Amino acid sequence: MPSAALMTIERHILEAQKEAAPQATGVLTQLLYDIALSAKIIARETTRAGLVNILGSADTKNVYGEQQQKLDIFANDVIFKMNDHTGRLCVMASEENEDIIPIPERFECGKYVLVYDPLDGSSNVDVNVSVGTIFGIFRKISNGPRGALEDVLQAGRSIAAAGYIVYGPSTMMVYTVGDGVHGFTLDPSVGEFILSHENIKIPAKSKYYSVNQGNEKYWTPGVRHYVKWLQGIYGEGSKPLSQRYIGSLVADFHRNMLNGGVYVYPGDLNDPNDPCGKLRLLFEAIPLGYIAEQAGGAASDGDMPVLDIVPHKLQQRVPLFIGNSELVNKANQFIRDYDREWLEIYRTHRDQQKLVNRE
Ligand code: AHG
Ligand code: MN
Ligand code: MN
Repeated sequence: MPSAALMTIERHILEAQKEAAPQATGVLTQLLYDIALSAKIIARETTRAGLVNILGSADTKNVYGEQQQKLDIFANDVIFKMNDHTGRLCVMASEENEDIIPIPERFECGKYVLVYDPLDGSSNVDVNVSVGTIFGIFRKISNGPRGALEDVLQAGRSIAAAGYIVYGPSTMMVYTVGDGVHGFTLDPSVGEFILSHENIKIPAKSKYYSVNQGNEKYWTPGVRHYVKWLQGIYGEGSKPLSQRYIGSLVADFHRNMLNGGVYVYPGDLNDPNDPCGKLRLLFEAIPLGYIAEQAGGAASDGDMPVLDIVPHKLQQRVPLFIGNSELVNKANQFIRDYDREWLEIYRTHRDQQKLVNRE
């Protein structure tokens, strides 16, 4: 076995797959490597962002009506172009696109599905604060020759692999194929991701909670009680958890996974037509939820594990409590006890597809 210093991401993925599935064809391995390569290209651009004229907002809005940053578009294109022609994917879906992204007819279709948030926390780019990329990989389940919406709208439980890249003081790629969570740091001098964090586990004792406290006036009673509880967590005489909030989910999640804690982006009752909060189920919550569970943690919408939710549309949003499982379970408890009204409205939104099917 080589020393950790020599373990590149490619070698790690290959060896892990050989062990888990000796008969595997290696397609998933190659797909993860394609993503690692996209990450290096995006990392190069994010670190040069202040030098080239790529900073600032583009004039377009994405499907959520938010202003897209130029780097959003760049990262979106890089990931698409690195993966459209390889024959490994049958369809893709990105946070930045309204519809599924088909594989162009001239290229072969493969057996995997890629969902991604190309640049997470992009409002932080202009001020030189960490951003990230999030991805999830599913298997094709539709019967047709090409991929379909059905392939993308799968519950997180059937995910095959997930990961993220943090573009911070150094660039890190973290991934799981279901055998634990492994982290790699990019060595820019050789252009390789080198194993730096093997088999990451969320610490049992937490240090941090992360929430946008500026939204407090919209919070439900359950979330208010929960955050108060986090502030006094270990009882009288002990130190409360520290609050940390970068505003890039990937970076906030990454810190809490390594140091212990919980990230919270709740739903609220500010608008009863929109009780789901901000984050996206497919592009953010499911991939990170899978990683959290693989690291011994949990991810919930306040009611059930996010991995058990069946998405009914690409842009579905979801409340998110993610990190240390004791802290996530406590959130569920507070919401059960105090937020009956919100829960009823939220469940109707979440379970829309099931209601439609029953009609
Ligand atoms: P994105 O840049 O992909 O749109 O995601 C931004 C998300 C997430 O990264 C972050 O944690 C959250 O938005 C911050 O939202 P607030 O500014 O409302 O706290
Ligand atoms: Mn995002
Ligand atoms: Mn994004």
